[in-house]
Amino acid sequence: MPWNPDLYHKFQAERAAPFYDLLALVDVRPNLKVIDLGCGTGELTRQLADRLPNSRVTGLDNSPQMLDKAASFSTSNLVFQLGDQSTLTGTWDLIFSNAALQWSENHAELIPYLFRHLSPGGQIAVQVPSNHNHLSHQIYRETAAEEPFHSILGGFQRHSPVLTIDEYARLLFDCGAEKITVFEKIYPHVLEDSDAVVEWISGTALVPYFERLGGFKEKFLQVIRTKMRAAMPESPVFYPFRRILFSAKKPH
Ligand SMILES: C[S@@+](CC[C@H](N)C(=O)[O-])C[C@H]1O[C@@H](n2cnc3c(N)ncnc32)[C@H](O)[C@@H]1O
Repeated sequence: MPWNPDLYHKFQAERAAPFYDLLALVDVRPNLKVIDLGCGTGELTRQLADRLPNSRVTGLDNSPQMLDKAASFSTSNLVFQLGDQSTLTGTWDLIFSNAALQWSENHAELIPYLFRHLSPGGQIAVQVPSNHNHLSHQIYRETAAEEPFHSILGGFQRHSPVLTIDEYARLLFDCGAEKITVFEKIYPHVLEDSDAVVEWISGTALVPYFERLGGFKEKFLQVIRTKMRAAMPESPVFYPFRRILFSAKKPH
C-alpha cells in the first residue's frame, strides 16, 4: 500500500503513547533476538532497541516508502528488512508489533502462527487499534458504499480483522502461552476539529481506499469531511481512540 510517512507523522505524539504502554509490557532481558513487525519509519524501533541491552533487533515492513525513512535509524544492532509480517520466518526471543497487525487478515491463524516463531521463553507483545466502530469509520464505510465510489472501488470495503480481547486471550491460552496479559484502553485525544479526525484516518484507515480511487481520492475525502463536519461540529473535538494491547510468553 502507498503509505505516506509525512501524513502518518502528523499525529506522532498521539500515536507514540500506546507504543510506550506496549514497551512497558516487554520483559527486558539482555541478548535478545527481536523482530518489530510493521516497524514503519523506524524511530520507535530504535527506542525498542535502545531499551534492550546487547540485543539484535530487526524492523520488518512491507512498505519501501516507510523503510526509506527507517534506514537512517539502523546501527550495528538494528537492521531493517522488507518483508511481510504474515509470513514471518525464523525464531525470535521477542516478537513486537505496534499498530501493524491490523493490516494482516485472519488473526485466529496469524497469532498462533507468530507464536510458533517464538523461542522457548520468548515473548509476543502486540498493540492493535480497535477503533473500527468509531463514527469516523462508519462514515467512510458508508461513503465507500455510495456512488460513484462504490463502482470505482468495485465494491471494495476493508473490514478490520481485529478480534475482541476475550478472543485474543483465548487464542493465547490455546497456544499454551504463559503470563497472558490482554487489555483494551481508550486514548483520549483532543483534536482541533472534525477535519483533523479525517486527516488522522487519511494516514491509516483510508490508505487502502486511496490506492483504489485514483483521481477520485479528493472527492471521496471531500464527501467524508462534509459528513464529519455535520456529525462533529464542535471545536475542539474529542476523539477517544480504542486500542488492544496483549503480551504472552512461550513456556521454556
Ligand atoms: C500504522 S503503521 C505503524 C508503524 C510503527 N510500528 C509505529 O508504531 O509507528 C503500520 C505499518 O505496518 C506496515 N504493514 C502493513 N501491512 C504489513 C505487512 N503485511 N507486513 C509488514 N508490514 C506491514 C505498514 O507499511 C506501516 O509501516
